[in-house]
Amino acid sequence: MAPSQPFSVLPLSAVAGAEVRGFDANAPLSDGDFERIYQAWLDHGVVVFRNQIMTPESHERFSQKFGPLKGHILVQYLLTGHPFTLVLSNKRVNGLPVGLEDAGRYWHSDVSYEDIPPDGSLLYALEIPPAGGDTLFANQYRAYEALPAQLKERLIGLKARHVFNYAKLQAQAGSERQPLTDEQKKQLTGAVHPVVRTHPATQRKALYVNPGFTIAIENLPKPESDALLNELFSYATHESVVYRHTWQPHDAVLWDNRCMMHHATTYDRKYVRHMHRTTIAGSRPY
Ligand code: OGA
Ligand code: MN
Repeated sequence: MAPSQPFSVLPLSAVAGAEVRGFDANAPLSDGDFERIYQAWLDHGVVVFRNQIMTPESHERFSQKFGPLKGHILVQYLLTGHPFTLVLSNKRVNGLPVGLEDAGRYWHSDVSYEDIPPDGSLLYALEIPPAGGDTLFANQYRAYEALPAQLKERLIGLKARHVFNYAKLQAQAGSERQPLTDEQKKQLTGAVHPVVRTHPATQRKALYVNPGFTIAIENLPKPESDALLNELFSYATHESVVYRHTWQPHDAVLWDNRCMMHHATTYDRKYVRHMHRTTIAGSRPY
């Protein structure tokens, strides 16, 4: 049996996030240590491991302790030979981008446009700019809890439609996103999810609509749907529920997509920001 590691779990803010300090993700993991980290993930939504040296192999190996991994619809940005490693980067090789340069510059929960969205994501920083490029996380349990009782009532049974607005992202100034293939377009049918989901592990309710991918509340006329979504987004992204992560090189950050949204921030493109992400498969939201 693996020996346990003497790490501590230190909350990073009152809202979300904890740092696991004194832990090596490459070392064999004991059941007890895994339980503590898994619990930190559930309790804090975002878990930060600093100073990790992760190869694509060890990154995938550690990630899959939390569940089976999934690839990504944008296969052109998966790391060659590593079908579960998505590259987020502004690096170029032979003039061509090696990864997604502009990933997640809007509030979203990863891949909520699929029927079975991922439980978690683990983003590892290989190179980061000296300033900028922070990632914001918003606690959607808190967002839900902050809703007035009447609004909570109104959300009972409501569902919303999520789509991957790829064409819109592609049309943005400076975007280098490659066109989708017909096969990719066919797979991107979108999904319908409850507006409020129950986290299957904590049983807590969280708001599950996001400005990035949620386009409409089902069965409402567009003006009402737009107004309701905007009202919900104002709670979902309120500064009182947000934790800002400022990256250091070799940070590995694991988050829970079931109860947290996130948002990438900009940085000066003359610097390199190069990250690898794994994605932990999930189950149908309810
Ligand atoms: C992601 C993502 C944000 C960032 O990896 O899913 O949205 O700051 N990243 O790079
Ligand atoms: Mn994301």
